Amino acid sequence: MKLRIAWLPGDGIGPEVTAQAQVVLEAVCKKFSHDLEAQTGLLGGVAIRATGDSLPAESLAMAKSAAAVFMGAVGHPEFDALPPEKRPEKGMLRLRKELNVFANLRPARCLPELENLSPLRQEVVHGTDMIIVRELTGGIYYGTPRGISRFENEASAINTMAYTKPEIERLARVGFKLARGRRKVVTSVDKANVLENSQLWRETVTNLGQKEFPDIKLEHQLVDSCAMLIVTNPRRFDVVVTENLFGDILSDEAAVLTGSIGMLPSASLGERTGLYEPVHGSAPDIAGQGIANPYGAILSVGMMLRHSFGLEKEAAAVEQAVTKAVASGARSRDLKGTTTTKEIGQAVLKFL
Ligand code: NAD
Ligand code: IPM
Ligand code: MN
Repeated sequence: MKLRIAWLPGDGIGPEVTAQAQVVLEAVCKKFSHDLEAQTGLLGGVAIRATGDSLPAESLAMAKSAAAVFMGAVGHPEFDALPPEKRPEKGMLRLRKELNVFANLRPARCLPELENLSPLRQEVVHGTDMIIVRELTGGIYYGTPRGISRFENEASAINTMAYTKPEIERLARVGFKLARGRRKVVTSVDKANVLENSQLWRETVTNLGQKEFPDIKLEHQLVDSCAMLIVTNPRRFDVVVTENLFGDILSDEAAVLTGSIGMLPSASLGERTGLYEPVHGSAPDIAGQGIANPYGAILSVGMMLRHSFGLEKEAAAVEQAVTKAVASGARSRDLKGTTTTKEIGQAVLKFL
């Protein structure tokens, strides 16, 4: 099979972890006789420095013509004082919107070998295997009106959390379908005791469940209590469906269960081209040292093989190689080890 991939490594540790994801994908293609056609483009702070635009037209065209896009991470302290419009993150938000990848899958699975690394007790995290399905192209991230108004000494700011029924339905449908191949439980997370937006969310998910997915158990959780349950009883969760901002926050929280945010992969799916990236950011505090954890990025390659190319055997090979590499002791500093980013890439190759 021919795999047309656009690589957008981005900023900070983005290029460091992406390089190892590339090494692993090249090895998979060689082993399973696939033809890799790859291009690399600029996104984020590096793109602003080179072109003045966080998502240059060339990168967008490259992404749109690829079968799958792989992103490292974006963001750099140099741009931290700028308004959202001018920041590196804006390029990524635009790319998600342009590709219409509305469903962001963020699996949080706790490997037995890493159970003791979570700040939570081992008996709490043991057996955690949940997937957060985060809405990615709507809600408060994109709603209008938005902005800050300033007048003399007065100032006010507004953001809008807006969803249409079809936007909620298409996201929830992804979650219900995933649940069918798992433990058949969907938890829909909202703030329906306060927000009208969440009332529509709950009503829409409930109706869809009754109509199209009577075989799936649907439960609702308010986002505050969900945040608590994730750290008190994570095993109770199978598939979590939620809106953009809640999903952003809950997925970083769920990452803690796995031992490090560096372990978490993600897939963003929509109409055609899928977007794959580790959940973590550009980690400016450790960038350039060669010590970043590339497992989340490498596992994102696994998700890409599965979701964009239907290559289940290859995806499973990547996942198994990661599990074995972790078990063999290949651990970066966040996993209380001393293995470098590159050495972890090599360790994964050994088990492919
Ligand atoms: P972050 O995820 O970059 O870092 C949080 C902490 O986790 C840091 O201590 C960091 O060193 C550590 N960490 C993260 N990934 C790691 C890895 N692979 N290996 C080892 N340690 C790792 O979050 P932040 O500090 O809040 O954000 C930094 C920048 O990244 C900001 O500009 C933010 O906007 C951006 N960001 C981008 C993305 C993305 O591109 N998808 C995601 C989150 C944050
Ligand atoms: C993520 C990040 C992004 C988000 C930021 C950097 C815009 O936190 O991918 O989780 O909020 O979606
Ligand atoms: Mn986030």
